[in-house]
Amino acid sequence: MNEPTSNENSNATTRRDFIKRTGTLAAASALAGTAIPYVHAAEDNTIRIAVVGCGGRGSGAAVDALTVGGAVKVYALADVFEEKPKQTFASLKNSFADKVDVAPERLFTGFDAYQHAMDSLRPGDVVILATPLAFRWVHFTYAIAKGLNVFMEKPLTADGPTSKRMLKLAEDAAAKNLKVGVGLMSRHSRALQELHKRIEDGEIGDIILMRGYRMHGPVGFFSSLPKPAGISELMYQIQRFHSFLWASGGNFSDFYIHHIDHLCWMKNAWPVKAQALGGRHYRQSPDGQTYIDQNFDNYSVEYTFEDGSKMLFDGRCMSGCADIYSSYVHGSKGLAIASKQNDCGLPSSTYKGQNPNRKSQLWESKVAAEDQNPYHNEWKDLLAAIRNNETYNEVKRGVEASLVTSMGRMAAHTGQQITYDEMLNSPHEFAPGLDKLTADSPAPLQLAANGRYPIPQPGLVTEREY
Ligand SMILES: NC(=O)c1ccc[n+]([C@@H]2O[C@H](COP(=O)([O-])OP(=O)(O)OC[C@H]3O[C@@H](n4cnc5c(N)ncnc54)[C@H](O)[C@@H]3O)[C@@H](O)[C@H]2O)c1
Repeated sequence: MNEPTSNENSNATTRRDFIKRTGTLAAASALAGTAIPYVHAAEDNTIRIAVVGCGGRGSGAAVDALTVGGAVKVYALADVFEEKPKQTFASLKNSFADKVDVAPERLFTGFDAYQHAMDSLRPGDVVILATPLAFRWVHFTYAIAKGLNVFMEKPLTADGPTSKRMLKLAEDAAAKNLKVGVGLMSRHSRALQELHKRIEDGEIGDIILMRGYRMHGPVGFFSSLPKPAGISELMYQIQRFHSFLWASGGNFSDFYIHHIDHLCWMKNAWPVKAQALGGRHYRQSPDGQTYIDQNFDNYSVEYTFEDGSKMLFDGRCMSGCADIYSSYVHGSKGLAIASKQNDCGLPSSTYKGQNPNRKSQLWESKVAAEDQNPYHNEWKDLLAAIRNNETYNEVKRGVEASLVTSMGRMAAHTGQQITYDEMLNSPHEFAPGLDKLTADSPAPLQLAANGRYPIPQPGLVTEREY
């Protein structure tokens, strides 16, 4: 498995590093007139945060940072919808009055809002990228140019061309000694970290099979009806991003990446190919309208690793069926429950043999209360790396997890076996030119002549997903 990209060769100096060596006041005067304009005696080393994408997760990540981050403050907010930064400001201010320093002129709206928000930060500050994934490479490119550390939400990519682009950007960020966290929070679950070590130490033998399940009723923007009046096609697709492959990789990428990522971590490998089934049982709303989104409502993927072992993943968005949301690792000597519930829910546990019961239990995770929240842990880890100037770049493995997820999705959508290399080298970029997007741009997905959006047709459309 590829570990975080190294940036040992960088000579870049972080603000913290500089201050540690020189003292704040000395640093402030020594830096006067240099290219590092952000050290002011009065502000010492408080890290400023800008949020790009003020939705559920952008606001949530800001709350996490403010909760566990020590000397941090939210400084700028950006979104394409005008009401969003205002709403996030109001809710953050309500809970963290003294840590929210967002003057009205630092509430930015529009497709260039991300630039203004990042322009208001100083090199070494942190930007949270929490828009739908389609914009990740655009915003990350700008963050690197501005010398910002980054926390970016998963998934990172949905297609081959943007994955290659993000892999290159990962290297660029490392070369500038920027610290980049990726919101695959399973990696920061203290229980899964211990499980990973136990599996590496041979507690359940060689891994033969892994299984992940996320099956529950429709959530988020899993399905969408035709666009109502009063909103442009482009904004409708952005708003309901889970419904459109270009924006999110669909519900498959958005919902299922966590299990796929942490199971591959347990194996210390990425699968080399995938075959998959999927379809849409229900396309009618309760009042008889036809949903126009691109998602299937059930997916079943068989991933194969280089050594021939398998990982099965089942995803379902359907009401009235059995809900299962957990993940398992089967070894030659025993079984592990990785996530007991949800994406990475406690506790993790191991068992002798393949039956998970009390008698056969070898270990169950015990995590101190203050370490139980992986969303907090990922911020503790990122900020510690920034403050101690440690190598920290989760982008490469974040792209790889995104690619492996896309590989399963593409196998289901095309009805073909898809290898890792085929996914990486697939030329179909779902939404080219997003760095030039304006409010007047056409939406990346256009209605076909029949008035419907193109949807996957396994066996009929096999080179691309739609
Ligand atoms: N790690 C997790 O557990 C977790 C949980 C939920 C969401 N997420 C991820 O976070 C991301 C956002 O998801 P969400 O649930 O917060 O969605 P959301 O719709 O609540 O928020 C996204 C926000 O981004 C804004 N936005 C869209 N395009 C923009 C652009 N170009 N510039 C600026 N703002 C833009 C939207 O208007 C919206 O306010 C997704 O990638 C999702 O997968 C991760």
